[in-house]
Amino acid sequence: MGGCLRVVPAAFMAVALVAVAVAVFPSSAEPEAAASLRGGPFDSIFAFGDSFTDTGNNPVVWGWYNVFDEVMRPPYGMTFFGGRPTGRSSNGRLIVDFIECRDFFSRSLFLVGEFGITDYHISFGMRKSMQEIKAFIPDVIQTISMGAERVIQHGAKTLLVPGMIPSGCVPSILVALADTDAPEYDATATCLKEPNEIVMIHNSLLRDAIEKLRAEHPDVSIIYTDMFNHVMEMIKSPERFGFKRDVLTVCCGGPGRYHYNLSVVCGDEAATTCEDPSTRLFWDGVHLTEAAYHYIAENWLNTVVGSVSARASS
Ligand SMILES: *[C@@H]1O[C@H](CO)[C@@H](O)[C@H](O)[C@H]1NC(C)=O
Repeated sequence: MGGCLRVVPAAFMAVALVAVAVAVFPSSAEPEAAASLRGGPFDSIFAFGDSFTDTGNNPVVWGWYNVFDEVMRPPYGMTFFGGRPTGRSSNGRLIVDFIECRDFFSRSLFLVGEFGITDYHISFGMRKSMQEIKAFIPDVIQTISMGAERVIQHGAKTLLVPGMIPSGCVPSILVALADTDAPEYDATATCLKEPNEIVMIHNSLLRDAIEKLRAEHPDVSIIYTDMFNHVMEMIKSPERFGFKRDVLTVCCGGPGRYHYNLSVVCGDEAATTCEDPSTRLFWDGVHLTEAAYHYIAENWLNTVVGSVSARASS
């Protein structure tokens, strides 16, 4: 048994930083970099984030809504220990589940994000103009920065702040925006240009905000991880990750393009699930599979280990 993990997903827009879930995972499942972190610099992990991080808060916070919450229905959780839904928006473990440490604030790793996807995706769905969406990016960044500032004031010494994944490649967004006037695709004709531009602006402003935080807190490690290019790599070279060539096809969903159908969503009785989720990048219309989260966790851990040892030797 490796240790403990405090998963603290919170709705940053509501700035509600509440600890809800605690989870312990068998170390047999730990990735290599997790092993190198064990006995290493962190006693615990505090993770703030949206449904990419949430290990079960959503159905608790929205208890009244619980029975309708598809994440509480199979096949969500099908490859998780026990094979049952856990409230996680995936088939199995999330990035945070793969990142494991020992027992507490200055010797803890704080995962601040990913944030933003929910704000932008709801806006895309509401058909807000790209101009309108661009206009509120600084507010989202400001809120993330405020949250980071707050945990630093409480004594956090190491923060990992992930950027956003390419929204223009997300199946639900591709389907939602397919019938808008002449949606523009990128050079590979796979992903939508404008949503990806929004994400690139978000990520770039996030990096500026991180630079500012670093300057204000030279004794704190604030590490940025590039989820955009990492997921883009998976989309451009799916075979390198064991994913099928139609990489945007989701594992669990209904009939239609990318196997994504708004009226037959994962968890519905009529939805179907791919035979081997490890061959897919996307689990449902938005969230990634356990296999994808495992690669991302490795990447985050390598980034943290690299950054911490660079600090130790300087
Ligand atoms: C979505 O699913 C419904 C119900 O099976 C089906 O009638 C409809 O054609 C599907 N939509 C697409 C775009 O395939």
